[in-house]
Order: sequence, then structure tokens, then C-alpha cells
Amino acid sequence: MSRKTTPTLTAEEMTAQALKGLATGVGKSVTHDSAEKQVCGEAIYIDDRPEFPNQLHVYALMSPHAHADITRLDVSPCYDVPGVRLVITSKDVPGELDIGPILPGDPMLAEGKVVYVGQPVIAVAADSLDNARKAAEAAIVEYTPLPAALDVEEALAQELFVTDSHKQQRGDSAKAISNAEHVLEGSLHIGGQEHFYLETQVSSVIPTEDGGVIVYCSTQNPTEVQKLVASVLAVPMHKVLIDMRRMGGGFGGKETQAAAPACIAAVIATKTGQPVKFRLPRREDMMMTGKRHPFFNQYKVGFNHDGVIEGIDIVVSGNAGHSPDLSRSIVDRAMFHSDNAYYLGNATVTGHCVKTHTASNTAYRGFGGPQGMMTIEHIMDDIACYLKKDPLEVRKANYYGGEGRDETHYYQKVEDNFIHEMTAELEASSDYQKRRQAIRDFNAENPVLKKGIAITPVKFGISFTATFLNQAGALVTVYTDGSISLNHGGTEMGQGLNTKVAQIVAETFSVDIDTIQITATNTEKVPNTSPTAASSGTDLNGKAAQNAAMTIKQRMVEFATSHFRVPEEQVAFSNGIVTIGEDKLFTFADFCELCWFNQVSLASTGFYRTPKIFYDHDKARGRPFYYFAYGLACSEVIVDTLTGEYKVLRVDILHDVGASLNPAIDVGQVEGGFVQGMGWLTTEELVWNEKGQLMTSGPASYKIPAVQICPLSSTQSWLKTGPTPKIRCFTRRPSGSPLSC
Ligand code: HPA
Ligand code: CA
Repeated sequence: MSRKTTPTLTAEEMTAQALKGLATGVGKSVTHDSAEKQVCGEAIYIDDRPEFPNQLHVYALMSPHAHADITRLDVSPCYDVPGVRLVITSKDVPGELDIGPILPGDPMLAEGKVVYVGQPVIAVAADSLDNARKAAEAAIVEYTPLPAALDVEEALAQELFVTDSHKQQRGDSAKAISNAEHVLEGSLHIGGQEHFYLETQVSSVIPTEDGGVIVYCSTQNPTEVQKLVASVLAVPMHKVLIDMRRMGGGFGGKETQAAAPACIAAVIATKTGQPVKFRLPRREDMMMTGKRHPFFNQYKVGFNHDGVIEGIDIVVSGNAGHSPDLSRSIVDRAMFHSDNAYYLGNATVTGHCVKTHTASNTAYRGFGGPQGMMTIEHIMDDIACYLKKDPLEVRKANYYGGEGRDETHYYQKVEDNFIHEMTAELEASSDYQKRRQAIRDFNAENPVLKKGIAITPVKFGISFTATFLNQAGALVTVYTDGSISLNHGGTEMGQGLNTKVAQIVAETFSVDIDTIQITATNTEKVPNTSPTAASSGTDLNGKAAQNAAMTIKQRMVEFATSHFRVPEEQVAFSNGIVTIGEDKLFTFADFCELCWFNQVSLASTGFYRTPKIFYDHDKARGRPFYYFAYGLACSEVIVDTLTGEYKVLRVDILHDVGASLNPAIDVGQVEGGFVQGMGWLTTEELVWNEKGQLMTSGPASYKIPAVQICPLSSTQSWLKTGPTPKIRCFTRRPSGSPLSC
């Protein structure tokens, strides 16, 4: 009956293997499942998929105006270009034109007017991308320009908003500020950031025989793409399958804005009956899609002679661009993080989503959190400068902790707060005080080159602030040869999610990770999923997969207890061996087959939803976050005050990651996050001209960090102290002269 390809182990061999313990379960630095394929160029991205002979390629013509009425649109000249198959305009969408993810405001193609430079107006499908582009450029489009709002301060003054504003209030901030010993006021502009994922937005669509589509889409949010494709096609969601194996980076840029190319390609595919690929060239991607929200933040703070805040009023204004997209949630997160790691006392925090005629800004790693934190960090430096204190002293004096100082301005208790211990640890291990003195001496002697050092904390709320999104599903299938197929609702964008979830399933069955096949995220396998976002991908999908695996394992255990008449405690899974009672030993594979012979179901779905969290938007109160993650960085920089040239000389990061599922992947994420943040605040600058055209629409003018500007790598170690393991990510030191690598 059975066709074994591997010989069954002897009892001695099985006992020895079971005793060895699992090498690839949770907590182990298992290699990212795609690492080898990625470095060898064998990992398949959507643009690498084999093409069909009749496959069409799409180019979308972009608006040259920030705000204008379309007065004439004639696409007939496009058809004179060889190879053109179809041109579509807003009129050709069979279903709903608007593809706004939560609120409307994002037409798939412009209808009657344009609201930003780069907005897609028509889409052309041809036998090659070149022909599609040539044809699109042949279209006759005439515009009457309208006044455009391009300046966020002016738009704020005119109260141009894409959604309602929100206010969080705890105590009487106005009274506390007026009673305070010292008061400071200020404002700051925080720039946006291009996602610069290596793989630009791309979708490849195949029409099906039932009037539906299969969409290979580089998206963090397969379910939302499914919903929007169904909506533009006017078909039920069950006609649309989204498949997503891996993204070449997402960073939030593919949370909502992967949908537009998918929808455009799907409309063309159903109209032509041909497979269609739509990949945005880099320039078009940078002009068409939204970025990290730039913010304009204002504050007034009252504090005592120790620098301790007594009252504060903060207004954060995110530049949403032309439509709501996710801006309400992003500005909310900026508000939730306006305290960062500090108790604000009496606080009023207001958040506006300002409307401008630019691309609709969207999710980006941190999701408004960093823009919120930067205001309070700026305030800490402002207070320290004013009181002539070490900024670290002011920061420590304001930290959460101690009697009555453990509640946020939205009434969530700050528990499990190790920021004091972590700061002490980093202050000592980075030699902060000694280096600060050395820097003072250096600055006194050097009129041109100046150095600086700072320790900055981060407290980040983990959970989607839209509470309902905190859910996930999974599908685990065990085959009769003991191999396991794993699917869940999360998406892999390089962050190692699939590897971590596979480790959880490996641990649950106590089998080697090689037993598990990671499969593409697929809306037919696991439906109704949340985006992979909000730092929650592993928590949510890992728990859902664990739930599915535990259901199957429980069935196997129940079978073993009844079949072999042993109590449950005598059934053990260990390193690929199932031990039952005193003397029955099976390989995991043999036991799976035995279960199947005995009609035990070996497949299960799993589900998870985060407990305890809620937020009442009307009352601005709740517990939006299941927990907070804490970290700190000590950074030293040098600046040439004549040329502006600078270098980050050394960075020490200490991050509380709890019990890490995979330390190697976590270190990669923390280091990558630091470098991406460093790029945002140093070399990356988005520049628009007075017409609202993005002047930095490629790598020649938009400078992401390259290896030579990164601080150099050196040590890495674990901190064993503290209630949970902490991970020291890196201590980087320069070599050579101050400004060289
Ligand atoms: N945080 C981060 N990403 C998100 C969120 C959030 O609260 N909501 C939707 N995407
Ligand atoms: Ca983008």
C-alpha cells in the first residue's frame, strides 16, 4: 500500500533523534527561506514569470497638471501606433471607478479632472511596453489648469482637509502651560520619503473562463486588491484570485497602492481576453504613487526647572495629498506616538489630514509614528538647550514610570516599561558620557568639523489602530508522507515573515523546518485577510498558523490515545519522532500515514484575533495597542559646517524584542530600519517644483543610503539581563579619518 522512498529508522535511531531536540524551531536563527534563491537570482518576482505569447503590456499616461479640468480627450491617434491592442479611459470601467481603500477619492483613471501631477489619465495596452508608451503619448488631452494647493501650511490655514480632524485630551493643557515655570513654542516640517522598493508596483493578470481573473500582484494586501478588482470589474469577489509569493520590498507602499495597476490590468484583461502585465517604470512609480506623509507639527510646552513637562499642546498635520487613502489612520498613529516614551502630563493632541494637490500619501514603515515622535524628541532638545542641560537628562526626567506617570494621553496604561533599565544599559555600554566629553573637546578645537552625540528612545504601539484589522487566518495541510504545506494571510516582502511562521509550525509539530513548504499568499486558500502591516504580521499570522497546526496535532494525539490506549501525556512529538507510551516509536511521516489510514483529518484552518484591544474614536480613549515595543539608539555624527557634508560615525542600538523568534532576522530588521530612517532624515529629499511636479523622480536625484554612508559593522551581542531578552543590534565604528569610511 505505502510507497516509501526513505527507509524507516530503527528504534535506536529514532530514540537518538528524538533526544537531540529541534534545531529549526522558534528562537533559532534559521536562514530566511528565500535567501539563497535571492542571492542566486533564482527567486521569482512577478516580472520574472514566463510570459504568454499574446501577453499585453500596459503604460498609463500621467497628468502633467497638479489641478486641472480635462477639456478634451481623444485617444484615436493612439491606435495609429503599431502593436496597440486597447486604450481605456475612465468610461471603460465596467464597475465602480473609485478604488479608494476606505473612503472614496481615488478614481482608477481620471474622470473630468486631474488632481495631481502623475495621476493616470488613460491606460494603453500593446504588444510591448515601448509601444504602449508611444501610443499613450499620441493621445490628445487638453486641460484647463485650476488653482492648486501645494503648500501644506497654506492648505492648513484654509482648512483644506481630506477627512475630519481628531483630538485627544487628558487634563487641562492650557491651564497647565499657563501655570508652568517655563514655556516654549515651536513648529517643524518633517519631509516625506519615497518607498524605493527595488521591485516597482506590478501586477500580471490572466482572465479565467468564468469571467474572473487570476492576479499575480506585488501587494501587502491581497484581500483588498481582490475586493477592488472585483469592484472595478463588477463581479463577486469569488471570481478574483490574488496570488502573492514575495515582494521585492513594500515598506507600506504596497499596502493600498498596489491596487491601481492590478485594477487597470484586470479591466484590460477582461476586455481583451488576453493576459496583461502592468509594471510601473521607476519614474512613473515615483510620480504616480504616494509616499511617507510629510508633516507640519506645532507645539507649545510648559515645563519646570528640571525640564519635566507639565502641560503640552501638540498639533500634527499630515500632508495627505489629494485623497484620504490611509491618512486618517496615519495621522492617528502620529497622535498616538506624540508622547514617544514620555509622560506628557496635561496634554492636548490634535491631528489634521491636510489636502494638497499631490500624489495621495500612504503607509510607510512606522505609519506616522516616527513623524509623531519627532516632535516630542525635538521638544526634548529644545528644553535641554533652553535649560542648558544634557538632553539625555531631560529625556530621562520625562520618561514614563513612577507613581502616576504610567498613562498615555489616550488613557492606555504603559506596562512592561523597561526604558529606564535599557537607557542605563546603553548609556554605559556605548560610553555615552565619556564620548560626550570627548566631543566637547573636539568641538572646542575644531572650528569647521563639529561632532554630536545623542541617545534617543522609541516606544512603538503594536496593533492596527483600526481594531478590526487585528485578525488573521492560516491553512496548514499535512500530507501522508509527513510533509507540510503552510499558507497564511501574511505577505513576504523580505522581512522574513514566512520563515518565522514556518518556525512556529515546525515547533508545534516538532519537525524540521525543511518538512514545511512555504506557499504563496493566495486569497482562495486563506480569505478575508488584513494587510501585512502595523508590525503585526508575525504576531497575527504566526498565531493563526499555530492554531491550525495545534488543531491537527490534537487530532493526531486523540487518535494515538484511542488507538494505542495510552493517556494523552504519553504521546510526544520530538524532532520528527512521535513516541507513544513506553515503546511505540514512529517517524512523523509514518505516523501521518497511520493517521490517514485511520481516517484522521490532516488539514485545518486556523484563526487568531488580538485580545484586549479597543479604541473609542469619539471619546479618544482606549487601549489601541496590545503592547509596546521599546528601543534606543546612541548615534554619533560629524558635520562639516562649511560644506554640509556629514557622516554617521557610530551607532549602538539596543532593542527589546521580547523572546525573539529568529534573532538573525530581527537584527536584520532593526539594522535595516535604522538605515532606512537614517536615509529619510539625511540624504533622501523629495523636491517638487512650483507646478507640483516631482523633480526627484529617480535614483540620480533621490539618494537612498548606499553602503558607503552606513556606519561600519562590528559587534553584536545578546543582553541576558532584564525581564525579557534584549538584543543589542550593532555597534558600528568608523575606520580612517572622520569623514571617510
Ligand atoms: N499601523 C500600521 N500600518 C497600518 C495600520 C496601523 O495602525 N493600519 C493600517 N495599516
Ligand atoms: Ca511609492
